[in-house]
Amino acid sequence: MRMVDIIEKKRDGKVLTKEEIDFFIEGYTNGDIPDYQASSFAMATFFQDMNEEERANLTMAMVSSGDVIDLSEIEGIKVDKHSTGGVGDTTTLVLAPLVAALDIPVAKMSGRGLGHTGGTIDKLESVEGFHVEISESEFVELVNKDKIAVIGQTGNLTPADKKLYALRDVTGTVNSIPLIASSIMSKKIAAGADAIVLDVKTGNGAFMKSLEDAEELAHAMVQIGNNVGRQTMAIISDMSQPLGRAIGNSLELKEAIDTLKGEGPEDLTELVLTLGAQMVFLAKKAKSLEEAREKLMEVMQNGKALEKFRTFLSNQGGNGDVVDHPHLLPEAKHKVELPSRSEGVITEMIANEIGVASMMLGAGRKTKDDEIDLSVGLVLNKKVGDTVKEGESLLTIHCNQTDIEAVKTKLYDNIKIEQEGTKPDLIHKVITK
Ligand code: URA
Ligand code: CA
Repeated sequence: MRMVDIIEKKRDGKVLTKEEIDFFIEGYTNGDIPDYQASSFAMATFFQDMNEEERANLTMAMVSSGDVIDLSEIEGIKVDKHSTGGVGDTTTLVLAPLVAALDIPVAKMSGRGLGHTGGTIDKLESVEGFHVEISESEFVELVNKDKIAVIGQTGNLTPADKKLYALRDVTGTVNSIPLIASSIMSKKIAAGADAIVLDVKTGNGAFMKSLEDAEELAHAMVQIGNNVGRQTMAIISDMSQPLGRAIGNSLELKEAIDTLKGEGPEDLTELVLTLGAQMVFLAKKAKSLEEAREKLMEVMQNGKALEKFRTFLSNQGGNGDVVDHPHLLPEAKHKVELPSRSEGVITEMIANEIGVASMMLGAGRKTKDDEIDLSVGLVLNKKVGDTVKEGESLLTIHCNQTDIEAVKTKLYDNIKIEQEGTKPDLIHKVITK
């Protein structure tokens, strides 16, 4: 087999065999196939697309390019959740203990990453003592005993994706549905998921800005999952404004505690219940999405979800008392209100720019070596669709620096107030096949 023939075949719009896709992924991973051929292949795929079978084959070839986490010692159906990313997205922190409270195993591998706030691990580390440096055997033991544990990235997962994604980033080929869908799905499958729930975000703060693109990506991923024996469901949710009220590490941890008690922001609660219902259904702990949702609401109301969060935190070295005393979490020195300069209805809170403002306070990383300030961030007092009077606080800035003029300007520039406006829909679509 020659790589040039495979490139020409894709360039001409023909369908590649499993053998051809395996040849490319194996050769590219071990260095036999150079970047220039891989980049040409990515561009051909960008223009010619892939059919359902090719997408499934590409996904599984990338899974096989590295280690696959073996969770077979964990009892039950391991359902993983993936979000395509947004601003102030606190859902994982809430969902993990929430579904674990229904005896569904949550065996989560998580990373830190770059962004407007830290990743799930950074947020959890705002609890004193909490750590994810546990052995794989301890990880399995904890999940079997208490149904929930989080471990830092281990092993060499999907090296083909790592290499290809970096190459796509500099060759104008990121934005291709078959390449994005296989990239995301290969990582979830390599991490040991039996079933997968996807939260595909749409709006200015999301990777997929338009609803049509988000829908196409969601369908592509659900098809891949179902074609490779992992039941998969997706929802498409709004990311035109930040999710919930808190953006920042310890601020989001506190928001997660409130939500687990059933006292969280309306949008975050709704999203968590929608995604959680799919997870419970796929784990076969309910016969319908409605029944699953009722079970989740029950553990929010009877305190079991919060109790699960306490157990989880203390199992991994953290002070579980934070669930009753959130003031034990790191707090910023200053709290500064941002008063509205006019009266009306909020019509826009541009998610990605508000995320940048929180990064300017120190809540996120620009490069992987940046230090994060876990205490800082923003708490929205108003959301899109709310009315506001002149002088009323739009949001509270939690900061450790005194000069925040640039942050305030950034925020004012990205919050729009008009005479009329409505609340955006949170859940645009639920995709089950
Ligand atoms: N996120 C991924 O993990 N892969 C892509 O290709 C795009 C976004
Ligand atoms: Ca939030």
